[in-house]
Amino acid sequence: MVKEQIISLITEKRARVGVIGLGYVGLPLLAEFASHGFKATGFEVDSKKATRINAGDSYIGDVSSSVLAQLVKDNLLQATTDFDHLQDCHAIIICVPTPLRKTKEPDVSYILAAAEEIKKRLHRGQLIVLESTTYPGTTDEVLLPMFEETGLKLDEDFLLAFSPERVDPGNKHFQTHNIPKVVGGVTDDSTEAAAHLYSQIVKDVHAVSSARVAEAAKLLENTFRAVNIGMANEMARLCYALNIDTWEVIRAAATKPFGFMPFYPGPGIGGHCIPLDPHYLSWKARQHGFDSRFIGLAEEVNSRMPEHVVQLVADGLNDERKALNGARVLLLGVAYKKNIDDVRESPALSIIDRLRAKGADVCYHDPFVKEIRFDDAHTEGGGEPLASEPLTDEVLSRADCIVIVTDHSEIDYGRVCRLAPLIIDTRNALNGELRRDSAARIIRL
Ligand SMILES: NC(=O)c1ccc[n+]([C@@H]2O[C@H](COP(=O)([O-])OP(=O)(O)OC[C@H]3O[C@@H](n4cnc5c(N)ncnc54)[C@H](O)[C@@H]3O)[C@@H](O)[C@H]2O)c1
Repeated sequence: MVKEQIISLITEKRARVGVIGLGYVGLPLLAEFASHGFKATGFEVDSKKATRINAGDSYIGDVSSSVLAQLVKDNLLQATTDFDHLQDCHAIIICVPTPLRKTKEPDVSYILAAAEEIKKRLHRGQLIVLESTTYPGTTDEVLLPMFEETGLKLDEDFLLAFSPERVDPGNKHFQTHNIPKVVGGVTDDSTEAAAHLYSQIVKDVHAVSSARVAEAAKLLENTFRAVNIGMANEMARLCYALNIDTWEVIRAAATKPFGFMPFYPGPGIGGHCIPLDPHYLSWKARQHGFDSRFIGLAEEVNSRMPEHVVQLVADGLNDERKALNGARVLLLGVAYKKNIDDVRESPALSIIDRLRAKGADVCYHDPFVKEIRFDDAHTEGGGEPLASEPLTDEVLSRADCIVIVTDHSEIDYGRVCRLAPLIIDTRNALNGELRRDSAARIIRL
């Protein structure tokens, strides 16, 4: 039976693992398999990434170049743009992007492209696992029929499962090996083989009854966050209207040892997951005549936060008899969250667009992001690219307003408070002591 064959190859570490898509998810996964003694081949469409990996030069913060270089040297890890090497892989894991179309509908074209490459070379004895976040049904409604068109049969010839990725880029405590992994196969044999594969690199594997359950579980996790952040953002705007300190309210509520979990407001949600994934769920629900209202509401509240931040800037300047038009506004941090370099869907981009539309002279400092271009898929507006400015005393004191969009740890907030005239703190980055001693006027979200 194909299941036994694959399981024994995995147990003996003779299985070659292929990972398609070597980004934030795929590269750490590839490195994890190689670190556990598996021969691991990464497949990329971007030849520059493949070249850098083979030179032991990591472009992902969670994978160090020294570890990568050693794995390449030990002949355990390699990257390629030649998909013919898929033939040599016993387990193939798909980690390609799953963005949204402009209409906010799922764009599974990257999954289809990867699956097409597999299909051309599919042969008996292969286990395929999809990790890209997607709507429930993708694995068995889209991938299975494609693979069965080859004439090969599920369970007899190949196995197919879904296992959602949960990586949290920049998180020092939780990385691939200690984040429990949910696995759901299209068949029981597929679940068993995929669970066995992941148990080689992850401490806890949680098997579920189907690929659909695993797909839905991932969307529940991220929708849970989107909805609760939406609630926190609504609370922040409500508190602003009532002139109450939101952060103090949350701190107080969080002392309750049961039945409450703190979520925090911010300038808006970003990254490749939280702003996008709930749409995959609501889209699929709509196909079945179901309207998921929480998702729609959270999206509405969260997507209005950049507008609210710009309002805070305008209000702050107004109090000093200044207009937004012509004001120099410095954003501190443009990545979508602290201590990482990812600007995908970052609210900073929308804030910059809006400030520029009002005539503000916008600049930014971010120790992780050297440049932002406004012509790629992740931004709404257009305009000149911006480069991170060095955080000199002059840059700080010349700004009419500073907006803390991302609370990166390495910023000297004490110096910011000493030199800036007006600060909009959207992350509660400035603690009580800093606020007390600050020369700047501070407006918190
Ligand atoms: N980044 C996260 O924190 C995170 C967390 C959990 C889940 N996910 C999910 O994991 C998936 C991948 O996300 P990511 O952040 O790693 O994306 P990414 O953009 O960082 O990486 C994807 C990589 O796939 C490559 N690629 C695209 N099409 C390809 C193809 N046909 N063949 C080979 N390579 C191809 C791209 O060049 C890119 O390097 C998405 O579905 C995402 O929702 C991401």
